[in-house]
Amino acid sequence: MAAGAGEGPGSGPEYGASPLDVATLLREATARLRAAGVGTPRLDAECLLAAALGCDRAALYGRRGAIASEASCRFAALLARRAAREPVAYLTGVREFWSLPLTVTPAVLIPRPETETLVEAVLGCLAERASGPLTVADVGTGSGAIAIALAVELREARIFATDVSPAALAVAVENAHRFRVERRVTFLQGNWTAPLFAVGLAGHLHAVVANPPYIPSAGLAALDPEIVRFEPRLALDGGPDGFAFHRELAAAAPLLLTPGGWLAQEVGEGQAEVVRALLATVPGLVPHAVVQDLAHRDRVCLAQRSPGAG
Ligand SMILES: C[S@@+](CC[C@H](N)C(=O)[O-])C[C@H]1O[C@@H](n2cnc3c(N)ncnc32)[C@H](O)[C@@H]1O
Repeated sequence: MAAGAGEGPGSGPEYGASPLDVATLLREATARLRAAGVGTPRLDAECLLAAALGCDRAALYGRRGAIASEASCRFAALLARRAAREPVAYLTGVREFWSLPLTVTPAVLIPRPETETLVEAVLGCLAERASGPLTVADVGTGSGAIAIALAVELREARIFATDVSPAALAVAVENAHRFRVERRVTFLQGNWTAPLFAVGLAGHLHAVVANPPYIPSAGLAALDPEIVRFEPRLALDGGPDGFAFHRELAAAAPLLLTPGGWLAQEVGEGQAEVVRALLATVPGLVPHAVVQDLAHRDRVCLAQRSPGAG
């Protein structure tokens, strides 16, 4: 988002005859977004006005006088798109994950705060390991959120991240450069775990991590418009029962992991028991804890390759 320019008292009309100040713009925008069914209208209005002005939200309230017409026009355009339910992150091009402001585009899922529980869980599992360099895979990396957070935390680790979408991988590569982990994160295009086998990682991974698509296909239409109309279907659709990718990953994990290596998968609401039961049927895998997110929902299913195996 370009920085705002030239705003100040008397610098141009907005919304008709008279130039408007921050408080008035926010009040009107909030009412408009509320009427459009947006769940967090005031917050979203603030984020978009800050983006239009090229400042952060906290700085909005220090601004005196009317907003320049250029910034007002930018704000009006963003507001119209938000009222049509386009997500704020796609409008601003940024979403913070693990305190990292990641670039996001409509080619990638907007990283969710609950996925930080997955990162935390994996870091906990790997902390138990004695020493030596770690090799970890993030399957279905999207924006690169998980892979990059792990690379930032595990300074010695080598991370491999896959996605079938070249457009998503382009965003992930950009993010890896932005946070200076590009030399330790290798992005691989291809179908789910296939690229990991192709580069010879079978039996070498200390952890395999994924936030897979997990919405049952028939449930997609019922999602909020922000999700179903704007986020990539590829990132959401978990097949007829929502477990297609969990199943595939559970089958591949014993072949990819080192003995004692960890499989960590995010699950949707109400899915943990099924995934845990599924993990229990896979020879060579031992189901471990189910980790809850900050809202106390079962969010991450952990399993370990039998320590004695292989
Ligand atoms: C739920 S999103 C997760 C994105 C990211 N890891 C996150 O947590 O924000 C799932 C990702 O899996 C990718 N994906 C879907 N089908 C795939 C496949 N067959 N092979 C590889 N990646 C796939 C999608 O492109 C998407 O980026």
